[in-house]
Amino acid sequence: MKLCVIGTGYVGLTTGACLASIGHEVICTDSDSSKIEGLQHGRLPIYEERLPEVIAAAAGSGRLTFSHDGNAAIQAAEVIFICVGTPPDADGKANLAAVEAVARQVAHQARGYRLVVGKSTVPVHTGEQIRRVLTTHSRGQLEFDVASNPEFLREGTGVYDFFHPDRIVVGCDSERATSRLHQIYSPVLEGKFSCGWHAKAAAQCGWKPPAWVATSVASAELIKHASNSFLSMKISYANAIADICELAGADSAEVLRGLGLDRRIGADFLRPGIGFGGFCFPKDLSAFIEMSTELGYDFQLLREVQAINARRIEQFMRKVREELWVLQGKTIGVLGLAFKAGTDDTRLSPAYAVVRELLRLGARLRAYDPQAMPRAHDELPAGVHYCERAEDVAEGAEAVLILTEWPDFRAAKWTEMARRMTRPLVLDGRNLFEPGELEQFGFEYRGIGRRSPVPPHTRPHSATGN
Ligand code: UGA
Repeated sequence: MKLCVIGTGYVGLTTGACLASIGHEVICTDSDSSKIEGLQHGRLPIYEERLPEVIAAAAGSGRLTFSHDGNAAIQAAEVIFICVGTPPDADGKANLAAVEAVARQVAHQARGYRLVVGKSTVPVHTGEQIRRVLTTHSRGQLEFDVASNPEFLREGTGVYDFFHPDRIVVGCDSERATSRLHQIYSPVLEGKFSCGWHAKAAAQCGWKPPAWVATSVASAELIKHASNSFLSMKISYANAIADICELAGADSAEVLRGLGLDRRIGADFLRPGIGFGGFCFPKDLSAFIEMSTELGYDFQLLREVQAINARRIEQFMRKVREELWVLQGKTIGVLGLAFKAGTDDTRLSPAYAVVRELLRLGARLRAYDPQAMPRAHDELPAGVHYCERAEDVAEGAEAVLILTEWPDFRAAKWTEMARRMTRPLVLDGRNLFEPGELEQFGFEYRGIGRRSPVPPHTRPHSATGN
C-alpha cells in the first residue's frame, strides 16, 4: 500500500522504515528540511538499534523514500500517518499545533479518499478535531476516515517492538478504516518477516501473534495514555517500595521479585532507581492529568506518581551527600547521561537532573555515556569533563555514580577504576549491580533499596583495588 508518514522523530522514522520493510511503499516527510536531507544521504538523526539496517534495506529496495515535499507525499499516499510531536505547553497540556497543521495540509492537498491515522500521543477527542479540520478545509473535495493507532515503541528497542508488539490497537469509526489498517499490519499479525534478523528474533523469543484490538477512536486515544500512566505508576510504586526497604532493612530486589512473580502484577517496570524520564512518561502523565481534570476527574493517584518521581533526585542526592559530605571541589565520576539505556536521547533525563545538582553544589564532574555525549556537550553547563572511556571517569574521583542503566557499564574494567579513584565508592542509581559484586574489586557500594552486606557505619572508607 502507498503510505505517507509525516514527522520523522523516533516514532515516525521507526514506523515508516518498518512499514516499508514489511512491503509497503512509504514516503517519510518532515518540516525540518535538514533532517530529510540527512536521511536522504543515509544520516540518521537519532541512535536507535537496528534502525540503520532497516532503513538501508528498505531504501535500497526503493520502498522507502524521504521527501521535502509534504504536499506531493500526501497526494501520492492512500494512508497518511501523523507522527508529529505533541510537546507539553507550560500548563502540561499537549500542544497540538503540529497535528492541526498536518490535518489542514491534508485537507488542502488530498483528493478522493484518504485514511488519516493519528500515531502521535494526543488527548482523547483529537480524532474528532482532525475530522472537523478535514471537513472544514477540504470543502467537500475529500472523502476520508480518521483512525487512532497509538504506538507502544520504546526508544532503543523501537524496531524490535514494531515487529513483536503485544497488541496492535486501532481506533476506527468505520469498517473500511479497520480493514485497511488490518491489511497494513497483516505481516506483523502473521509473523511474516522478510528480513532474516526479525525471523531469527521471532524464533528466539517464541513468536506469539499480537492481539488485534479494534476500538472506537476515543478508546484508542485513551489506551495510549492509560498505558503510559500505568507503567509510570509501576515505576513510582517500585521506587516507594525501595525507600521502604531502606527504612526497614529489607532488600528491594527480593521484595519486588516476590511481587512481580504474581502474574496479575508482572515483573516488568518494577526497577527502582533515580526515576523515569524521557520525552514520553513525564509529558504524557502531565497531559493525562490535565485532560482528566478537563473532563471532570481529579486524577490524584497520578499526581502522587509524579510527586514520587520528582523526589527521586533529592533522595539520590541525599545519599551522595551522606557519603561525600561537602561536594565543593570534589571530583565525581558519572556513568550515563541518556534518560535510559539504548538511546542517545537526553530529554528530561534523570541523569541530567543529578548532574545539574552536582554542578550547582560545586563538584567537578568526569562523565561518560556510550551514545549521549555529543548531545550532552551542547546541552549541559560547563564544568563537565567528557571522557573517552567509562574507566576514565574514575580518575581521582571520590565516587562514581551510575545514572543510566547501560549494560555496557557492567563490562567496564572495575579493577582499574578502583585503582584510579581517590575513594573507590559506587553509588548505583539504577541498581545495575548486585550488592557484593563490586566489593570484590575493593569498592564500597550503595544501590537503591538494596541491603548492603555490611552496615554503612562499619564500612571501611579506604578499600583498595586489586
Ligand atoms: C515509553 C513506553 O514504554 C512505550 O511503550 C511508549 O511507546 C513510549 O514511552 C512513548 O510513549 O512513545 P520510552 O519512553 O522509550 O517508552 O522508555 P521506557 O523504556 O518506557 O522507560 C521510560 C523511563 O522509565 C526511563 O527513564 C527508564 O529508565 C525508566 N524506568 C523504566 C525505570 O526507572 N524503571 C523501570 O522499571 C522501567
